[in-house]
Amino acid sequence: MAFLADALSRVKPSATIVMTQKARDLKAQGRDVISLSVGEPDFDTPDHIKEAAIAAIRRGETKYPPVSGIPELRQAIAKKFKRENGLDYKPAQTIVSTGGKQVIYNALLATLNPGDEVLIPAPYWVSYPEMVGLCGGKAVMVPTRMEHDFKLQPEDLDRAITPKTKWIILNSPSNPSGAAYTEAELRAIAEVLMKHPQVWVLTDDMYEHLTYGDFVFTTVAQVEPALYERTLTMNGVSKAYAMTGWRIGYAAGPEHLVKAMDFVQGQQTSGAATISQWAAVEALNGPQDHLKVFRKAFEERRDLVVSMLNQSRFLKCPMPEGAFYVYPSCAEAIGRTAPSGKRIDTDEDFVSELLETEGVAAVHGSAFGLGPNLRISYATSNALLEEACHRIQRFCGALR
Ligand SMILES: Cc1ncc(COP(=O)(O)O)c(C=O)c1O
Repeated sequence: MAFLADALSRVKPSATIVMTQKARDLKAQGRDVISLSVGEPDFDTPDHIKEAAIAAIRRGETKYPPVSGIPELRQAIAKKFKRENGLDYKPAQTIVSTGGKQVIYNALLATLNPGDEVLIPAPYWVSYPEMVGLCGGKAVMVPTRMEHDFKLQPEDLDRAITPKTKWIILNSPSNPSGAAYTEAELRAIAEVLMKHPQVWVLTDDMYEHLTYGDFVFTTVAQVEPALYERTLTMNGVSKAYAMTGWRIGYAAGPEHLVKAMDFVQGQQTSGAATISQWAAVEALNGPQDHLKVFRKAFEERRDLVVSMLNQSRFLKCPMPEGAFYVYPSCAEAIGRTAPSGKRIDTDEDFVSELLETEGVAAVHGSAFGLGPNLRISYATSNALLEEACHRIQRFCGALR
């Protein structure tokens, strides 16, 4: 009898975590390494949010929370959806979990039966297919193209849907490409979904507040109210409030689905940390001024990185609408030889050689299901980004 579960064989380690660890190891050996592989803002949690958590501790809010979340947070989430997305949800239709990741995991665990298919447009956040696999479902990737800014085309969606399709996971703005769907683009996708009433939509809106220029964020249940009854709208405080370590994510959707997720969570964690939930109440209800500051900084960095990467030989970098990632193609570098003598056959070779020769850590696109590309996170200072991009230019310039 094997000790480890068969389910483990269906899970791959996270390429982003592997790359971040490699960069850390090299740094520990004294190498000068710039890590562009992390998926978290370099900003600190705003002070008023920290103070709310400290006040909660002082009030003795240190006991088990209700499984689905403290009433004050569920109320704040319902208000947020109304205020920012024009969506009507009762607090009973909301759920709080330990990070956005657990929201998705619970939704899949509560709904997937063996053989159920989940459509995932590629490139995708590395965790989606792994979570689907762990929950016994079948992840079905739907490739997108750089010419379409990595956005799912309605006809490709239509072709991918089968009688077994239970969910589609939409993520806008996207990790890893930064691409975000306009209202018209979402409407075109919604039109296809309207023809297939068995398909539910899990929309991961984690990067909602990180969009740039005059881009206007919309979410699918807002664009097509007829999909409200089969949409789970997921969001969280991790990215826009610089609260990755507090581990709070949330969602709203039909009450029967939320109840099923609560059922799963009741036997899992008993709910997200009470103190973090009080901090999230302040994040959602309190001043939002920091968002402007974050957005301005990220927009400047995006522009800097896109411009410098496009000046690099062999790289082509589209300008994404949001998040803090860019996803340049390195197709023209494939087949060339690095100064070490190693041939670059894949995007994974590209990022390994880049790390070895120039000490810049990025993540290969094939880990996100679409390559040859690399994902570069620009959640770091302008000075480091500039230096990293110079090194990438030098690396590409030296390929033969
Ligand atoms: C697209 C996307 N969804 C969800 C998450 C998970 O968020 P959390 O840290 O709140 O679990 C991430 C984090 O990297 C993400 O990039």
